Amino acid sequence: MTEPSLRPYANRRVLLGVSGGIASYKTAWLARLLSKAGAEVDVVMTRAATEFVGPVTFEALTGRPVHTGLFDAGRALDHIHLARAAAAVVVAPATADFMARAATGQADDLLTACLLATEAPVLLVPAMNDRMWAHAQTRANAARLRELGYRLLDPDDGVLAAGEGSGPGRMPEPETIFAHVGRLLEDSAAPLVGRRVVVTAGPTREAIDPVRFVSNHSSGRMGVSIAAAAWRRGASVTLIAGPLAVPAPVGVSVVRVESTEEMCQAVEQALAEADVLVMAAAPADYRPANVATSKLKKTGQPRAIELEENADILRSTRSARREGAVIVGFALETDDLIENAKRKLDAKALDLIVLNDAKEQGAGFGVETNRVTLLTRGSPEPERLPLLSKPQVADVILDRVEDRLRGR
Ligand code: CTP
Repeated sequence: MTEPSLRPYANRRVLLGVSGGIASYKTAWLARLLSKAGAEVDVVMTRAATEFVGPVTFEALTGRPVHTGLFDAGRALDHIHLARAAAAVVVAPATADFMARAATGQADDLLTACLLATEAPVLLVPAMNDRMWAHAQTRANAARLRELGYRLLDPDDGVLAAGEGSGPGRMPEPETIFAHVGRLLEDSAAPLVGRRVVVTAGPTREAIDPVRFVSNHSSGRMGVSIAAAAWRRGASVTLIAGPLAVPAPVGVSVVRVESTEEMCQAVEQALAEADVLVMAAAPADYRPANVATSKLKKTGQPRAIELEENADILRSTRSARREGAVIVGFALETDDLIENAKRKLDAKALDLIVLNDAKEQGAGFGVETNRVTLLTRGSPEPERLPLLSKPQVADVILDRVEDRLRGR
């Protein structure tokens, strides 16, 4: 997993509830992800949960005491303190029994008491046997919990414990829950909440014949980081992606494309609704003039492929932009960096351009980090950022996008 951005998690207190299901072994990894991202994680376990994973495991992973009972020695008012201090509450796994108790407002153990005492947003992550999940009683409890304002993640469809075959009931992976907690921790009044953000990522491929193509080394990591961060900040995100070398992020809707022409059409369509477009993709600028319908054979002679230029997506979709939309482009340069980037900022009518130096160590294609310079329309001074992880660069870019949106 790439290093998560610390932004929403650092020094935030997360109450991590664990009820008694076998999926709690995965909750240990979630506790680790949250702690590693800087959160202070208060683990509250039901008695049944302690039968599956020992409190010591969570204590070691979070570096904090684990809470188990309403009446633990000297800690009778724990539920009030824990519930007040939490910026977000997540219960994973939420068993059928736990859901039933939460849906009826019981407060007969520390975890359910915390649920009633908190004002923080609450995420429940159900996990159980597929028949228990399908039972009308559980469905009714889930509906009631949603009505009460709790957010519920749908369980995954997959292999269940105890040789029970497969079906819906499996707890989503810790990385997925981690991403949802990030969205929960963001300010619900943030400028990206309710906005539509379109991000492009990855390379495109231009066919030479049925088995070969022209492309580039873009992995899609930068665009994927931006899409993930925008979703976490409350936006509804469409990721238009060429072939990616990294997984698509949680929560975003993904449109897969191959060629620059396909990406251009997808961008044009998405722009009709978009408040923000971030063109982080590296579309191929050229395509073979003639695509062979059969595999080209060796001839023993040198061979040339004639290339013709693709449309520039940012330029050719200018008229499809909504008024007031914030448009972000990238520039990958080797020489005269600032001048070239300024030229692209104007020529492509951008609000912000993210300049990469192709000769810089630890920046550009295929690596986890990036060192970029930001040029903003109307502000003469380039902003040179230090070497950062791509998720951290994504956060700075979105901070600037939010500034532009605020000013409109
Ligand atoms: N871009 C685009 N359509 C293309 C190629 C690039 O919209 N056919 C976008 C990229 O996504 C990026 C920006 O344009 O946001 C700049 O890309 P870059 O490759 O640096 O520049 P080019 O415009 O292709 O110019 P050149 O290759 O001549 O430097």
